[in-house]
Amino acid sequence: MERARTNVAVVGYGYWGAHHVRVLNRIPGVSVTVVEIDSDRSRDAADIYPAIRCVTSLDEVLADVDCVVVATPPHEHYSVALKALRSKKHVLVEKPFTTSVESANRLVATADSANVHVMAGHTFEYHTAAQKLRSIISSGELGRILYIDSARLGLGKYQSDIDVVWDLAPHDVSIISFLLGGEQPTSVSAWTRSNIAGQPIDLAYLRLDFERTDAVAFINVSWISPVKVRRVTVVGDRKMAVYDYLSTIEPIRIYETNVEVCATSLDVMRSEQSVKYNSDGVVSPMIPFIEPLISQDTHFISCVKTGMRPSTPGEDGVANVRVLAGLEVAHRSGQRVALTGEE
Ligand SMILES: NC(=O)c1ccc[n+]([C@@H]2O[C@H](COP(=O)([O-])OP(=O)(O)OC[C@H]3O[C@@H](n4cnc5c(N)ncnc54)[C@H](O)[C@@H]3O)[C@@H](O)[C@H]2O)c1
Repeated sequence: MERARTNVAVVGYGYWGAHHVRVLNRIPGVSVTVVEIDSDRSRDAADIYPAIRCVTSLDEVLADVDCVVVATPPHEHYSVALKALRSKKHVLVEKPFTTSVESANRLVATADSANVHVMAGHTFEYHTAAQKLRSIISSGELGRILYIDSARLGLGKYQSDIDVVWDLAPHDVSIISFLLGGEQPTSVSAWTRSNIAGQPIDLAYLRLDFERTDAVAFINVSWISPVKVRRVTVVGDRKMAVYDYLSTIEPIRIYETNVEVCATSLDVMRSEQSVKYNSDGVVSPMIPFIEPLISQDTHFISCVKTGMRPSTPGEDGVANVRVLAGLEVAHRSGQRVALTGEE
């Protein structure tokens, strides 16, 4: 039976936790509690939402809530989520799910034994444009996917506990697998650099190889780039697509463009082959914009209320962390790393 109200604790009222509170507070039937250790930030929350309860420790409210959103810095995700799961609370964990494969697996096992959901906050999988592009790819409209290129660039916030790969690439890794119908890469390689003395890696070029589709994906993430870019290019052998998260008017453009081998009579005489460029225009599908965080958090609350399995379950969080951990080994060793699924 559905409960009348759903009580959710948002742990961490920083940049992103504040967005969760804004969104959750607008969902009918949801009561939000803010858990924040920093008293200034807690005061900010109380000023904006006078009716919301603000506390400094999850222990104070765990008995009163149905579910928990973990929006702390990544190194705290595991301990906060584990505590909530052990108390049989459903949990949504922000990206990156955890900072090691072992801890990610342990969260999923703990949720299973407590018979509650643990959901990965892979927000872009809830973006209407990403969903549209996935359906375009799976319909075969683009043909065979040759490669995907994802760029997430800008002047990012240098963080003390993670580098740019763990900070930004979780999004690209989840979007790319999502676009490929859930396929996970079988090997990864990476080139990274720290450009500012004493600071973590702030620039990375990553490569993911996919066996089933034979696709290859490249990810460029940077905290040190002058222009904000959030763009995924998908090149198929029939058509090509560009997904630009920053464009609310045309988030997806389908280019009816391809390249084919075309031998001219002169080439035949020289036993050579040329290529021909076909370009029939650009189509921009109409896609209603719904803030992805609203869709994600509404979905989380429905899973809590109905028992439905989340679209981005904890297992997706494990898979995402496995790729990130593999990328870390790859850039440290300078080698391509095979992902066996048993790391
Ligand atoms: N899904 C997305 O698009 C998206 C976007 C931005 C950030 N994030 C993720 O959200 C998380 C938070 O990022 P942020 O930019 O808001 O960080 P932030 O540093 O601005 O905020 C984190 C907050 O958590 C608080 N905190 C830390 N430990 C705590 C604890 N044990 N109990 C209560 N409060 C605690 C800190 O005081 C701080 O206010 C990160 O995991 C980040 O990767 C996700």
